Amino acid sequence: MTATDFIVARGDFETCKTIATTLPDSDALPHDALLVKVDRFAFTANNITYAVLGDEAKYWQLFPAPNGFGNIPVWGFGEVIASKRPNVPIGERLFGYFPMATHLVIEATDVSKRGLRDGAAHRQGVAPVYNAYARVSGNPDYAGRQGDYQALLRPLFMLSLLADDFLAENDDFGARTVLLSSASSKTAFGLAHLLHTRGRKVVGLTSANNTGFVSSLGCYDNVVIYDRVTSLPSDTPAAFVDMAGNSALRATLHRHFGDRMKCSVRVGLTHRATDADEGELPGAKPRWFSAPDQIRKRAKEWGPGGIEQRFGAAWSGFEPLLEKCLTVVESRGPEAVRQVYLDTLKGRIPPEQGHMLSLLG
Ligand SMILES: NC(=O)c1ccc[n+]([C@@H]2O[C@H](COP(=O)([O-])OP(=O)(O)OC[C@H]3O[C@@H](n4cnc5c(N)ncnc54)[C@H](OP(=O)(O)O)[C@@H]3O)[C@@H](O)[C@H]2O)c1
Repeated sequence: MTATDFIVARGDFETCKTIATTLPDSDALPHDALLVKVDRFAFTANNITYAVLGDEAKYWQLFPAPNGFGNIPVWGFGEVIASKRPNVPIGERLFGYFPMATHLVIEATDVSKRGLRDGAAHRQGVAPVYNAYARVSGNPDYAGRQGDYQALLRPLFMLSLLADDFLAENDDFGARTVLLSSASSKTAFGLAHLLHTRGRKVVGLTSANNTGFVSSLGCYDNVVIYDRVTSLPSDTPAAFVDMAGNSALRATLHRHFGDRMKCSVRVGLTHRATDADEGELPGAKPRWFSAPDQIRKRAKEWGPGGIEQRFGAAWSGFEPLLEKCLTVVESRGPEAVRQVYLDTLKGRIPPEQGHMLSLLG
């Protein structure tokens, strides 16, 4: 039996291809292994960032590919089609981190009623969330359109929630306005929704093509295109949460706000602009936001289930916005996956679209 994997050249993301790999027979599966058919997965700019940080953050090691190529991790659903674990039956549905492929062999450990982990040696040394699978058979929150929203947004909205929490616990560092770059991205508008809900003034920075979408969301008080950011009033303290990772934009904002730039955190790299040396910038020193640090801190303070409980409450306030603003687009087969991958890489996906893919024909 063969599987299909979609892989990209690590040194040139525009070079990509599908390859066939051989799957073990059910009888030859290692002890404790599950053979999972990867049904459908979400693909957004976040997955391109996984590729950009593939070496640095060890994403390439999770789903090994032949020399010089990498398999980009994606969030999605799989179905167990062969099992060496008596307590994980064939037909079980899993939600978690998968390769862009038709199949994955998981070495199941820590199996509980709610989930399991892949204990494969090459998957260790990364944040635990990347090895955890939720058992979602029969769970309506993970079925149909709700399931698509989970795959598309759940990992992103977790970041939105943690970034909002980080700002809130620091009284927004004294800022009156929070500026978000790549305001049209799902991660940014999730954060904008949370900031808006707690009464913060939110300014969305975006490209000219995406202003209509960003304005229509209703969670940004003001929308400004990248070329016009110096038209923003600079006399009140601001915080900047950067999803674009564009060093020229960051420098312009810091120089414009000067000492009134009270906080500057980096979250994303959608623009993938070269990290030019910005020199010393006025205002707060830009730094990467660490979601794992915030999770560890809150897990300790809020106790077991505390983060999930807050996530659930925030998600139920966010979901109605998704129904209004997001169109789920489904594509199947290697050629369709290649097209969506290249369109995402080149920034050609309209922000109102959320892509769910499958390599199965
Ligand atoms: N640190 C973390 O733990 C963490 C967690 C979640 C997300 N993130 C990061 O947040 C960012 C947003 O992710 P997402 O999945 O929410 O994105 P998304 O919804 O797919 O965002 C699409 C938007 O990103 C911008 N964009 C995408 N590709 C581009 C390109 N090639 N050139 C120029 N602009 C491009 C455009 O926005 P504009 O026109 O508005 O710029 C586009 O509308 C990613 O970098 C992701 O890795 C980080």
